[in-house]
Amino acid sequence: MRISSKLKVAFVLMCAAGSFKLTAQAQTKQQAPQLRANNVKQIIAAMTLEEKSKLVVGMGFKMPGMPPPVKGKKPEAIDIGGFKLPPSDPDAYNIPEKVPGAAGRTHSIARLGIPSMTVSDGPAGLRIEPIRNNDKSKTYYATAFPVATLLASTWDTELVNRVGVAFGNEVREYGVDILLAPGLNIHRNPLGGRNFEYYSEDPLVAGNMTAAIVRGVQSNGVGTSIKHYAANNQETNRNSINTIVSERAMRELYLRGFEIAVKKSQPWTVMSSYNKLNGTFTSQRRDLLTTILKKEWGFKGFVMTDWFGGVDPVAQMKAGNDLIMPGSPSQSEAIVAAVKNGTLSIVQLNANVERILNIVIKSPSFTKYKYSDKPDLTAHAKVAREAAAQGMVLLKNDDHALPLASAKRVAVFGNTSYDIIAGGTGSGDVNKAYTISLMQGLENAGYKLQEKLSKNYAAYLADMKLKQPKPKNFFDHPAPIPEMDINGIVADEANGADAALITIGRNAGEGADRKLENDYYLSDAEKGLIKSIADAFHAKGKKVIVVLNIGGVIEVASWRDEVDGILLAWQPGLEAGNAIADVLSGKVNPSGKLATTFPVDYKDVPSANNFPGTPADKPEQVIYEEGIYVGYRYYDAAKIKPAYEFGYGLSYTSFKLSNLKLSSTNFAGSITATVTVKNTGDIAGKEVVQLYLSAPKKDMDKPEDELKAFGKTHLLTPGQSQTLSFVIKPADLASFYTNRQAWIADAGKYEVKAGSSSRMIAETASFNLAKDITVEKVNKALVPLQAINELKLK
Ligand code: BGC
Repeated sequence: MRISSKLKVAFVLMCAAGSFKLTAQAQTKQQAPQLRANNVKQIIAAMTLEEKSKLVVGMGFKMPGMPPPVKGKKPEAIDIGGFKLPPSDPDAYNIPEKVPGAAGRTHSIARLGIPSMTVSDGPAGLRIEPIRNNDKSKTYYATAFPVATLLASTWDTELVNRVGVAFGNEVREYGVDILLAPGLNIHRNPLGGRNFEYYSEDPLVAGNMTAAIVRGVQSNGVGTSIKHYAANNQETNRNSINTIVSERAMRELYLRGFEIAVKKSQPWTVMSSYNKLNGTFTSQRRDLLTTILKKEWGFKGFVMTDWFGGVDPVAQMKAGNDLIMPGSPSQSEAIVAAVKNGTLSIVQLNANVERILNIVIKSPSFTKYKYSDKPDLTAHAKVAREAAAQGMVLLKNDDHALPLASAKRVAVFGNTSYDIIAGGTGSGDVNKAYTISLMQGLENAGYKLQEKLSKNYAAYLADMKLKQPKPKNFFDHPAPIPEMDINGIVADEANGADAALITIGRNAGEGADRKLENDYYLSDAEKGLIKSIADAFHAKGKKVIVVLNIGGVIEVASWRDEVDGILLAWQPGLEAGNAIADVLSGKVNPSGKLATTFPVDYKDVPSANNFPGTPADKPEQVIYEEGIYVGYRYYDAAKIKPAYEFGYGLSYTSFKLSNLKLSSTNFAGSITATVTVKNTGDIAGKEVVQLYLSAPKKDMDKPEDELKAFGKTHLLTPGQSQTLSFVIKPADLASFYTNRQAWIADAGKYEVKAGSSSRMIAETASFNLAKDITVEKVNKALVPLQAINELKLK
């Protein structure tokens, strides 16, 4: 009896406690406001400090391909080219995974109806796991679009926008909220390991390509993260290299593309970079993230760190780096402590939270979009193939070596003809369902192939692959397979085939810069391959074409005379072989133009002596001594002839640019330039018109010419003309005067040059600016340290 009454009491107490708990929960649920599209401020007022600190820090990260940390065993750091990636937070392995393979998630706060957002790489296609452990009946492949360097070479923002529309559809249909792309760092040096993820050496091209793809992706109701902001132009010691740059070079070059993209496309997010800028991590620089990006340019979204970027979460909050990725609980704890001890103001934290919530309310996770996991991959592959063919650049075509009639019999050499490289490695890699090799593409196009040669290559590559070491981790990629020795068979091939194709391939990616030997320069085996094939085929009066399947610039000047044609195919995505065959056969007339210079030699590169920094064995600092003189801005000023200049590219037809007219010879507010392009050949084709401007050099050093506008014609039939028009605004006339903290257009004579490359100027006209214009006054920012000032950076 006593026992039972005790139990009774306990039971009653338990019920009471339970019902109290239930009531509290019910109350919290009832009282706590739920996030809606119009009550962000109310939600912030209802959030606890701990909740805020969770929202501004991501959920953690599972390293792709790495097993979860073993319980009780200290997790190990991963070595990436000398940088120790922090060990994965064991908790990250317990995160409920929404989209396997995605790079990260934000925290949900269920009490307030705040959903978690999923973010995923990367620039050339959505990077997610194609096969899921819990469901082997379905696949989740994504389209590998052509790499950014190729997209830029189309000079066609309408086409790049269409790539974005298709790309963004995959983001949405696979349940991702924000795409961690595009990348738009400047091609400062050809050895930059991630150049393939970036567009150009020129900020106008990079900014406009970014805006075009961002608008396309975001038209699907998903977000983008333009990256890596800013001056992140190398991979060597990427997580802490101190990049030293003048404010002028930052404003005119390294920030300019971001500015264009922010103003034209309002990306949902911007990703700050890993590097330090003039002594401070970019994610901890308030002038970069708040003063310039948010205040001067009017960026409305939020800033996230690159993965594990920076070192001080409180400094990141203060700088306006709203979200820390991938995030760890210790960062949230540090933020809570800082607010409590007064070193971080709640006003700042609220501002960061507000920016994140303003994006959350636009996200598919918030609107509970029912994604299909079935994007139309067939339709997207067509877009990828079209873009790929449009961005290939015909570098050389002696004696009409190309197009090659598709009935021809071709001997196909070079490992990458058989194992084509669709795109680069690291987070820029895409898990695609297939890649069409050049062999397959040629076959599909109706070419006859030399079967014995193909079989030899297939056997050789299969054997060599068995011997290749397995990649050590996600960032590691095995050294390329050496070229097959063809000396014993080349004479036979020259007898049997009508022409020879040789593919030279290069791959690179996150975590390492490229090397000069056997990468920027062709290896001896590759040079030998080209020479023996050229000798054998030329002896029979047959043509030799080289296809460059590369993500960044290589040396071409020493071997190009040996061959008849060179097609720069870049890394063209999953439809690679079909797109290359489209151009080789003439089904598509090439209209791509270089958005990055091919110098004669590496020693000509303006940053050759300042890359990847000092000390040479483990660079800690890199000084951008060349200032604004990067790419054609340098080659033109220094009068150095490149192998193929910025803007260069041939066609199977010819064009004439004429009749450059300016709306006025005196600048008052703006000037419109019109120029007519005529197809003077006998094949339909497209031409890119480039408008360069040469400004008066009053008391400041300025580039000879700078690209100010570009446009691509539609497909012009033989004899057909099209007139393109461009508007020149005051900002196009201005240079950045550091001492005056302003963009200023100097009075004087401006020359407008219309051309089909930076060195093929067809027409010139000029106008006069009567008085200086202060186009924009800006804040004092990015001030280099005293010691840096002494370097007198340009
Ligand atoms: C890369 C970013 C990428 C992120 C998430 C980093 O290592 O630098 O470009 O978006 O990882 O995968």
